[in-house]
Amino acid sequence: MRTKIVDLLKGSATNSTVNVKGWVRTRRGNKQVAFIALNDGSTINNIQIVVDIEKFGEEFLKPITTGSCINVDGLLVESQGQGQSVEIQATAIEIYGTADPNTYPLQKKGHSLEFLREIAHLRPRTNTFGAVLRIRHHLSYAIHNYFNDLGFYYFHSPIITASDAEGAGAMFQVTTLDMNNPPKNEDGKINYTEDFFGKPTNLTVSGQLEGELGAMALGGIYTFGPTFRAENSNTPRHLAEFWMIEPEVAFYDIHDNMDLAESFLKYVIGYALEHCKDDIEFLCKMYDNELVDRLNFVLQNKFIRLAYTEGVKILENSGKKFEFPVYWGADLQSEHERYLVEEHFQCPVIMTDYPKEIKSFYMKQNEDGKTVRGMDVLFPKIGEIIGGSEREADYDKLMNRVNELNMSMDSLWWYLDTRKFGTAPHAGFGLGFERLVLFITGMTNIRDVIPFPRTPNNTEF
Ligand code: 4AD
Ligand code: MG
Repeated sequence: MRTKIVDLLKGSATNSTVNVKGWVRTRRGNKQVAFIALNDGSTINNIQIVVDIEKFGEEFLKPITTGSCINVDGLLVESQGQGQSVEIQATAIEIYGTADPNTYPLQKKGHSLEFLREIAHLRPRTNTFGAVLRIRHHLSYAIHNYFNDLGFYYFHSPIITASDAEGAGAMFQVTTLDMNNPPKNEDGKINYTEDFFGKPTNLTVSGQLEGELGAMALGGIYTFGPTFRAENSNTPRHLAEFWMIEPEVAFYDIHDNMDLAESFLKYVIGYALEHCKDDIEFLCKMYDNELVDRLNFVLQNKFIRLAYTEGVKILENSGKKFEFPVYWGADLQSEHERYLVEEHFQCPVIMTDYPKEIKSFYMKQNEDGKTVRGMDVLFPKIGEIIGGSEREADYDKLMNRVNELNMSMDSLWWYLDTRKFGTAPHAGFGLGFERLVLFITGMTNIRDVIPFPRTPNNTEF
């Protein structure tokens, strides 16, 4: 039976016969003996296979090149060489699949991340992407753990939606109509009654509005699913398809919400430090020497809580030249957020009480008539990692805002019903999963923390 390399390296099976299967990272050696570094994805570490050339024959070993896949039986022994604790003395090798050195793109180490994006179908086989993808997995698991332990329910919000009023971003349309010859009304507009759902539909930009329905019944819920935004924003922090975690909690106010966000982030960061040690240390060594320190710092320090109005004052008095101007009412840019976090406070910041004009209609309105109880969590290197708010629970106030904004509520009547029937104070937020993975891996481009990034003009893989 196959043993995973991660388990073999623990050493407890030493001096027994084992079977291992994996992909060859390198083969080196001399006339008598070959050393194969084998990886099976279970750990960043390879196991060394020692091959007696006389026994297997030079011809047999030739196709065992970088990228090929082999099945090895052998004896697990304490290693005589340096750099590994155990190794396998091969007794039988089967070649599952070769990888022609003339065409296999991952011959050498040290390819640029840009190059690897062009071979996204193969990049999971590199040390870097192996590490990132394992961390991604452990973080997903940690997130479910965290909320499950708190008694929150995993709530499945829909991916296709007919509501168009959240305003979180431009949407991708979903249709089965023939785009070359769509049915038309007399006024020349497309007749959506003939479309699959009988009305225009889109991919969701957020599960929040449905999540609120869940919270008004189950108390505390969270969503964790893909979300889609069609903005043409080609930045290192935006994807057209990204995963979002959105807890929504009845009877929470904005302070409870901030406490939840802080404790949640600290839990998952702590979980990663504990369960992804080898991978994080690898990424720290290769890409970002301060990574582990930064993660520990966030874990150990209380996040600063700062009202938008105060934040703007600090930015105005900073004496710093920003590309985008700062003034009360401005939607803060990443450069402003990062100044506050990285230079001024040198600590994560939760900014609250934003001008209502720059935030969504559903945020709870403050007494001042100008600001709303929104909150963004701002992180070093990332900027906004979480966006959320206490929600406006009062039907009339919510409708006033809807009317001020001239929003059509035709497709959102069901959302407003929550405020009609047993409304309750509640709050929630959205964590961008890839931004979290960026932070924890120390990667700098969001395209490098999801297996198959969706960005403008990019759906090859
Ligand atoms: O701030 P946003 O737009 O908030 C919402 O969608 C709310 N409905 C959340 C809620 O209150 N339940 O998005 C939330 C987070 C951002 O802070 C950011 O981390 C991430 O989602 N995000 C993106 N991540 C990658 N690519 C994009 N295009 C993103 N847009 C937002
Ligand atoms: Mg936001």
